[in-house]
Amino acid sequence: MAAAHNRQWRVARYPQPGEAVSEELFNWTTAAVPQPAANEFLVRTLCLAPGPAQRGYLQDAGSEAFLQPVAIGDVMRGRGVGQIIASRHPDYPEGGIFVGSLGWQDYSIQQPRGKEFVFSTRLIEQPLLPLSSELTLLGQAGATAWFGLHDAAGLQAGDHVLISAAAGGVGSSAGQIARLMGAAKVVGLAGTAEKCAWLVNTLGFDAAINYRRDDLAARVTELFPHGIDVFFDNVGGEILNTALGHLAMRARVAICGFIATDYDPDAACGPINYRNLVSRRARMQGFVFFDYWERYAEAQSELRGWYRDGLLHNTEHVIDGLEAMPTALAGLFTGGNRGVAVCRVAPDPEL
Ligand SMILES: NC(=O)c1ccc[n+]([C@@H]2O[C@H](COP(=O)([O-])OP(=O)(O)OC[C@H]3O[C@@H](n4cnc5c(N)ncnc54)[C@H](OP(=O)(O)O)[C@@H]3O)[C@@H](O)[C@H]2O)c1
Repeated sequence: MAAAHNRQWRVARYPQPGEAVSEELFNWTTAAVPQPAANEFLVRTLCLAPGPAQRGYLQDAGSEAFLQPVAIGDVMRGRGVGQIIASRHPDYPEGGIFVGSLGWQDYSIQQPRGKEFVFSTRLIEQPLLPLSSELTLLGQAGATAWFGLHDAAGLQAGDHVLISAAAGGVGSSAGQIARLMGAAKVVGLAGTAEKCAWLVNTLGFDAAINYRRDDLAARVTELFPHGIDVFFDNVGGEILNTALGHLAMRARVAICGFIATDYDPDAACGPINYRNLVSRRARMQGFVFFDYWERYAEAQSELRGWYRDGLLHNTEHVIDGLEAMPTALAGLFTGGNRGVAVCRVAPDPEL
């Protein structure tokens, strides 16, 4: 049964420097369910994916802003999967499953976007269940891991790979994909013993290091006696510095994110062990998944095939209810999720 109103989270204010995300930054409002005009369609939200980048929408746009902010008073932006429930566009029929920027709300009006939005806006031709997998392995997390490993990391069969935030959305996908690409060893970093056990026992990592409890440098030395060939980094800060101190010859460091220092106003110095890039003839490269939209079909075809064949575990961490979105976003910065955080707004329909 569809909700009669459109429940929404609107941005109330931006956080102060160093302030954590919390419900106080948003207002919970209701509005009438909108109706599509010509060439538009109405989408009912089924699930939403809070992502660390959404914290970046909550700040004034400086001249160097990488992420477009959400204006105060507007509905918070966010990716989701929904079902088209009314349509005035011939290519987007009622009943279709749609992935797009649905916002933190029950209903949104959508229209087609250019093909450069293929990651974030698409009609799913052959949806796989659960539909939230379109936000996890088959969506941004899987694609980021796939392109990061292929391109920025140049992963080769036989490589010894270290992944930070390995129990997060991108990291848990990257570990599984690295193994399928032929990595000889895959080690993950995570912040609890339970997450470490999950990486090894469920996702098939060779080993996991609890970076909060273990002596990180000692464990890396033990697990990588010949050095790290590929470091896939989601965290930055001291973890990046430690990994740079243990590189193998011609190692590749793929910089996916830096969640440890993202919004830390005091994080002003760089990793001194970058000097190892010279002696190890190594390279360090950042990448952004949406630069790869022209090759998206390539990643999708492989990821969907692996998922259909049962070779990839759908690592989603389900949170119930649209009401929980601010808490779900806040939890990403305190290690609350295991796999991709997904907020369930309404049940999957029968397909
Ligand atoms: N380059 C791109 O195109 C791209 C695309 C998507 C995401 N990203 C970036 O990649 C990173 C991971 O994204 P995601 O979606 O996988 O995130 P996620 O699912 O939210 O995972 C985040 C995990 O990071 C760990 N973490 C948080 N704070 C930490 C800290 N101070 N030190 C060490 N670990 C910490 C936590 O796990 P523990 O409990 O293990 O600490 C947390 O569960 C983010 O920085 C994100 O912005 C980049």
